[in-house]
Amino acid sequence: PNAPLVLGIETSCDETGVGIVRGRDLLANTVSSSMDEHVRFGGVIPEIASRAHLEAFVPTLEQALETAGVTLEELDAIAVTAGPGLAGALMVGVSAAKALALATGKPLYGINHLVAHVSVGLLHHDGAAVAGGLLDADGRAADGLGALLVSGGHTEILRVGDLAADVALLGATIDDAAGEAYDKVARLLGLSYPGGPAIDAAAQGGDPAAFRFPRGLSNAKYMGSAEEPGKHRYDFSFSGLKTAVARVVEAYEAEGEEIPVADIAASFQESVVDVITRKAVLAATENGLNTLLLGGGVAANSRLRELAEERCAEHGIRLVVPPLSLCTDNGAMVAALGARLVSGGIAPTGLEFAADPGLPV
Ligand code: KG4
Ligand code: ZN
Repeated sequence: PNAPLVLGIETSCDETGVGIVRGRDLLANTVSSSMDEHVRFGGVIPEIASRAHLEAFVPTLEQALETAGVTLEELDAIAVTAGPGLAGALMVGVSAAKALALATGKPLYGINHLVAHVSVGLLHHDGAAVAGGLLDADGRAADGLGALLVSGGHTEILRVGDLAADVALLGATIDDAAGEAYDKVARLLGLSYPGGPAIDAAAQGGDPAAFRFPRGLSNAKYMGSAEEPGKHRYDFSFSGLKTAVARVVEAYEAEGEEIPVADIAASFQESVVDVITRKAVLAATENGLNTLLLGGGVAANSRLRELAEERCAEHGIRLVVPPLSLCTDNGAMVAALGARLVSGGIAPTGLEFAADPGLPV
């Protein structure tokens, strides 16, 4: 049988994404972001994101169809992110997908956003496999596969056995997402939004050891041991770190002294990246995961890439970093998982499902 032609729709946060794949081949990946509209607030405002999705959806869809050179009639299925994410934002994509499915009679699949992030490992992009044999054609991991997803909306460690049937959440943030922490701390330091790239750049000229900021959920009480894991062994917390940075900034302001932005940025970044990479590598070694796939917008971070490379190499873990356009939120990852479900003969979700902001993996 021919590889299925699938359209994927992603609207869980501030990116309106429409991707088209034929089996494992990426035909189009069009993304429109409302990031610019959130700049003056220093973070994603859900109401604004929802409205932006409404405005961007049809042009983004048309652009993707044009790029792929296909029509809606030719599709084998439509896939859409059902959750987790922002309620109103998800509803726009789910409603649009249902309308398309109803009008065309195509089967519709509701997709988990986190599993979709990992599904980019199925794709071939620019003639090469994104993750070189990481996942077989059926979406099963060849051997132990883990994923580290770090973005403005979520921060998780996953264990992936089979994209369609066996994905487990090993750890997640209990408060802010990593990217959200970058955005909030950038604001404290008077840097621009989004904060990640701004802090990454500012940190280049700073001393990462200038301040010793807290590593959330890293003490014995939360970590426990390999034999008796603590409740939060693989979990993250960034709100205490943000508060610690705020205290330092306030102290400089109170003294009327110039804030050492580069040193604070570098020290903050070191704290985030140290704890993320340490816990990800720990989760991988303790769960027999010998490959780690990186996803989410924070995957762009230079220090995260550097330390992840270093620590994965030390532990014999293969690190896979997809092209950035497939790390950030996009429709191609949703289409990739949709195509895998079609190929696997898995029944469509149908039209009777709702967007679920808290959808578990
Ligand atoms: O996955 P993504 O594009 O979208 C959502 O989360 O919706 O991730 C965006 C996040 C933002 O919080 C941004 O500050 C962060 O990724 N980010 C970075 C870097 N580039 C983007 N964080 C750290 N270092 C970077 N170089
Ligand atoms: Zn995401």
